[in-house]
Amino acid sequence: MATAIEIDVEPLRNIELDMSLDGDPDFDIFEAFEIASGNRGPKIDPYPEFHRRREEQPVYRVPDDEVPAYMNASGDRENYIVYRQEDVCKIAQDSETFSSVHHAEGIGLFFGHSILEMMDEEHTLHRRLIQNAFKRRDLAHCKDNLIPEAVNEMIDAFADRGHANLASELTLLYPVRVIEAMMGLPIEHVEWFHRRAIEVISIQSDTERALLSSQVLKSYFEQVIEIRRKHSGGGDLITLLVEAEVNRKQLRNDEIIPFLMLLAPAGAETTYRATGTLLYAMLANPDQFEAVKKDRSLISKAVEESLRWDPPLTGLGRRTTRDVEFQGVKIPAGSNVNGCLASANRDPDFYEPAGTVDEFDLFRPRKPNLTFAGGAHVCLGQLLARAEMETALNIVIDRLPGLRFDPEHRDESFMTGEVWRSPNKLPVVWDRA
Ligand code: HEM
Repeated sequence: MATAIEIDVEPLRNIELDMSLDGDPDFDIFEAFEIASGNRGPKIDPYPEFHRRREEQPVYRVPDDEVPAYMNASGDRENYIVYRQEDVCKIAQDSETFSSVHHAEGIGLFFGHSILEMMDEEHTLHRRLIQNAFKRRDLAHCKDNLIPEAVNEMIDAFADRGHANLASELTLLYPVRVIEAMMGLPIEHVEWFHRRAIEVISIQSDTERALLSSQVLKSYFEQVIEIRRKHSGGGDLITLLVEAEVNRKQLRNDEIIPFLMLLAPAGAETTYRATGTLLYAMLANPDQFEAVKKDRSLISKAVEESLRWDPPLTGLGRRTTRDVEFQGVKIPAGSNVNGCLASANRDPDFYEPAGTVDEFDLFRPRKPNLTFAGGAHVCLGQLLARAEMETALNIVIDRLPGLRFDPEHRDESFMTGEVWRSPNKLPVVWDRA
């Protein structure tokens, strides 16, 4: 058991939260984001199309008038989507040819210059620094303290009720609590912080709100950093960044803030969806759920298979720095390329048994998946995300015996989404003592 890391949050409690975006009590940013992402309403199942493309057009030139918003189409660039596992793997691994600079024209306008869009030496330096924050001791602290505390607190709120929607009452809420605790922010800021984090990534649906929110959040972080420069928090991530040095110089605010801006949506939104998918897979496959309950060592396999089966993010955006060729199709330098992670994860030429790639099967022979991408920009939070999912499932099994879909509402729950994937809702019941 890791010793809890003490963090002094007191000095941050005086920060006055900017409530200018919270005027309308009926506006629910989480619902608005789900609606804008197509995750409400009829079920979206992109997999039949992915299978067809992987077979027939594995490197697909998107017609100029059909380019989806998430590809950040700009000017007269060509746009491609790549579907086969071997090709998507090359895109993720080779960050020199498939660069991340295009993020500066999209999400970077809202986050600032974050590691997501950095390249080469600048990226290596900043990434190394941030990796420190995710080192083993801190991960153990998260695993033993922050994650169970967050998950248990959410479950406390509904455990006696005997029924719940685990998507809105558990999986949506606990990952942001973990990130917020890692940053050492006061607990009373968490709801405010969560709303801003979602607004900042609502670029395509509400650009104006995303921009306002990014200004509000930046100003909040400026205040936190100013306080941390005077009063160390002890073991929190922001103090670590404030005290860190690159080339013997302390980081400036404009170097720290983009990382913090990225972390909330990168860590909270993805893990929310991935944990929902894991629970959905368990509930929809009661035999495998029973096996996991009997042998908890199977949990890590269930986590890995759910990450393969339906990743929270379906694609990885990149821009080519030179001419390349995949499957006989030439892609010119300067094109936008989307490596379809979700398609790669169900490629029957890679996963076995080939005929069952659409099924969730935790006993499938283990092979790597591309859910966290790969290469230089491979997800920095992947160990944390896995720890969060494993812990959440363990606690759910302990505290909600006999967990099953609510038979009255079973048909209302399904996996959905084109860019962001997750169950739309998780209506469940369990046995009360
Ligand atoms: C299941 C949950 C998660 C998924 C599916 C996921 C997925 C990804 C993917 C695909 C990338 C590559 C993006 C790109 O290169 O364009 C990425 C990068 C990143 N992720 Fe995650 N992520 C998850 C959880 C987390 C968590 C919990 C954190 C931290 C708290 C985190 C922090 C980051 C950061 C900082 C990067 C940027 C790394 C870099 O550019 O060098 N992620 N993630």
